[in-house]
Amino acid sequence: MKGLNGKRVIVTGGANGIGKAIVERFLAEGAIVFAIDKDATGLKKLSHGNHADRFSMMRVNIAAPDVSAQLKRAKFLSNVDILVNNAGVDLPYDHLTNRGNWEKIFAVNIAGTRTVTEAVLDSMQSRGRGGSIIFITSVHTAFAFNGGGAYDASKHALVGYMRSLALAFGPAGIRSNAIAPGAIYPTNITRGIPMKEVVRIGKTIPTPRFGTPHEIAGPVAWLASDDAAYVNGAEIRVDGGLAIKAPFEE
Ligand SMILES: NC(=O)c1ccc[n+]([C@@H]2O[C@H](COP(=O)([O-])OP(=O)(O)OC[C@H]3O[C@@H](n4cnc5c(N)ncnc54)[C@H](O)[C@@H]3O)[C@@H](O)[C@H]2O)c1
Repeated sequence: MKGLNGKRVIVTGGANGIGKAIVERFLAEGAIVFAIDKDATGLKKLSHGNHADRFSMMRVNIAAPDVSAQLKRAKFLSNVDILVNNAGVDLPYDHLTNRGNWEKIFAVNIAGTRTVTEAVLDSMQSRGRGGSIIFITSVHTAFAFNGGGAYDASKHALVGYMRSLALAFGPAGIRSNAIAPGAIYPTNITRGIPMKEVVRIGKTIPTPRFGTPHEIAGPVAWLASDDAAYVNGAEIRVDGGLAIKAPFEE
């Protein structure tokens, strides 16, 4: 893809699932990739063979109170072209009976993501060469899901945050966009769904199956590339058509 060779990329939540596929895709495109994740075991398992010289990683919990200080210690942060805000959590939430996870979800999906973004924006701005920031939202910005109140709200907030950044930093050549995945399998979030259900749910999607992490990584790489130079402030759905289907359609 145009313009990714030699670019410096940070991927949050890069140890597993969609983030891991994004790391692999950028490495295949010739980029220099820095993965951050709280999962030390997952990070250790990452092995990028021939690309090892262009790959580094750091164990960081983006929701930790000292995350700004931790990020300041990472030399990579001083020179970043592309940030993929992929780290996210989905926990059960009920408006009446189970409200406890609201703060936990917002601490990662919003507060942590904002802290990383601000650290990178500071360096992108002072460097003056523009950049690209990509948020991984969800089909939850198209639909409300039972038990998903806090996750739904956090992903909507991400879209608002992304748009405000697109407006504020577009003039500095820093593009902000989002990819909204549909049902993606396997990742740690979806691994627990029984295969029978994956097949049944998959059949209800216009492209009748779950997507794979690599099918999200491709559009993320395109969005970061020079081919998407005029795309700013967009949320692009990569969901096999899930969000265009009326619920009463067979
Ligand atoms: N899987 C799906 O169907 C699906 C659909 C829509 C959107 N998404 C979104 O895609 C993104 C990736 O999810 P996934 O399905 O690959 O899940 P996953 O759990 O496999 O990967 C998420 C990664 O983020 C890391 N992470 C979580 N909290 C963190 C923290 N506080 N600090 C640092 N790292 C942290 C995890 O350790 C993990 O490696 C998430 O933002 C999720 O909301 C997933």
